[in-house]
Amino acid sequence: MSTSQVLEWLMTHEEESIDRFMDWLRIPSVGTDPKHDPDTRKAAQWALEHLEESGFSVELMETGTTENPGQPIVLATSEGDADYNGPHVLFYGHYDVQPADPIELWESAPFEPIRKPAEGAIGERVVARGACDDKGQVMMFLEAMRGWYKTTGKPGGGVKFTVLLEGEEESGSVNLENFVEQHKDMLSKTDVCLISDTGMLGRGKPAITYGVRGLTYIEATLTGPDQDLHSGLWGGKVPNPINELTKVLAQLWDEDRKVTIPGFYDGVRELTDAERAQWDALGVNPAEALKGIGLSEDANIGEKGFSFIEREWARPTCDINGIIGGYTGPGAKTVIPSQASVKLSFRLVDDQDSDKIAEAVYEWFRERTPPGCTWSFENHGGGAPATCATESAPLQAASRAIKSACGVDPAMIKSGGSIPVAGLLKTTIGLETIFMGFGLEDDRVHSPNEKFELDCFRMGARSHAALVEELSALS
Ligand code: BES
Ligand code: MN
Ligand code: MN
Repeated sequence: MSTSQVLEWLMTHEEESIDRFMDWLRIPSVGTDPKHDPDTRKAAQWALEHLEESGFSVELMETGTTENPGQPIVLATSEGDADYNGPHVLFYGHYDVQPADPIELWESAPFEPIRKPAEGAIGERVVARGACDDKGQVMMFLEAMRGWYKTTGKPGGGVKFTVLLEGEEESGSVNLENFVEQHKDMLSKTDVCLISDTGMLGRGKPAITYGVRGLTYIEATLTGPDQDLHSGLWGGKVPNPINELTKVLAQLWDEDRKVTIPGFYDGVRELTDAERAQWDALGVNPAEALKGIGLSEDANIGEKGFSFIEREWARPTCDINGIIGGYTGPGAKTVIPSQASVKLSFRLVDDQDSDKIAEAVYEWFRERTPPGCTWSFENHGGGAPATCATESAPLQAASRAIKSACGVDPAMIKSGGSIPVAGLLKTTIGLETIFMGFGLEDDRVHSPNEKFELDCFRMGARSHAALVEELSALS
């Protein structure tokens, strides 16, 4: 059995795998920050070489335009055995990472990965920006590919793969839509997308995520007077954009914490009793989850009529992600600012349409324009929600692979996070996605002290290795 040889290889070469992983983490590929463009490219090149060493044909593809270049895309392919006629798998991942800020809250330097021993419930881990999201998870696939190549001499272990790693996921994948459009013919040849960028149900509880939410991200700016004013001379006589903006924002939710924007819930489907029961049976403990972030049980609040998990997996939400305006420096300054802005994100489900939501949001703000003030809006992008077919042969193969590699059946879960490429591939080329991720709730993704536990890394690498044989068996 080849899989057992690969699993053996992964075990005996684990130290080298982790060293390679830590080398990748040392490259600060903050895709959104132009200052890090050379590093971001270096991280792409690094992955490219890794895939080449595993027998893949590789190419670094440019994105964007000459005037406005984007981050490169790593593209790699394995031909597959001559007699392979299982699914052609498109593996998607991202090599860009979130900015490290606020830097002062890191206990070790974000781009100097360290290995920390187990402590209480937390297992041995690697701490660095990108450790879980998404370098660590992509690395599980890369090491599984290396293992198959080293033990059989076949790229991809004889499975037909196209690997696409992008460098703009954390900044809204702005150039991906064009890339997919331009390479539609090539991408249409694939049968299913595989992504490792999601989480598990808990420690030692691997999962397949069968749905992620969509996203609309909008910035609204309210302008009042054409200059900042002395608040003693002008306060109480003219609109203060911060006062007015916050009064408008307070109207976004009603007493039941439902979003008040007309049409917002269009396309949201009712949960079925069967799905509700399935989710209940997963045994998610809200009190425990809340405790992990320093909250008590009574902090379990959200849209009325829905449970903790239902509010994340099945309901759309609106969140203020930032408010900008006035004086925020040290000490006091008595001022009425000319402008105030808000960054707002909406998580979407089912058939909600990201562009329609944006229009509805603009209209809602316009109807609430404070006297003498004007709005301007910027759409920072987003993506469609994605729900996956759970009965498909490749998803069942992934489920069997997890079972054989980890010894337990994967839980079927959803996630409140967003991975826009899945919706994009579904709408442009009709591709289904399988999310096979190994993150934990306390991995601190997007936050200081991000980590990835070695137990998760192991389970992920083993599951990806086992998936190769399961895919071959579909031939
Ligand atoms: N990997 C995450 C999304 C995620 C995390 C999904 C955990 C499921 C479980 C991804 O890198 C991410 O952060 N996505 C962004 C959206 C993007 C458009 C900026 C998000 O969800 O905020
Ligand atoms: Mn990610
Ligand atoms: Mn992310």
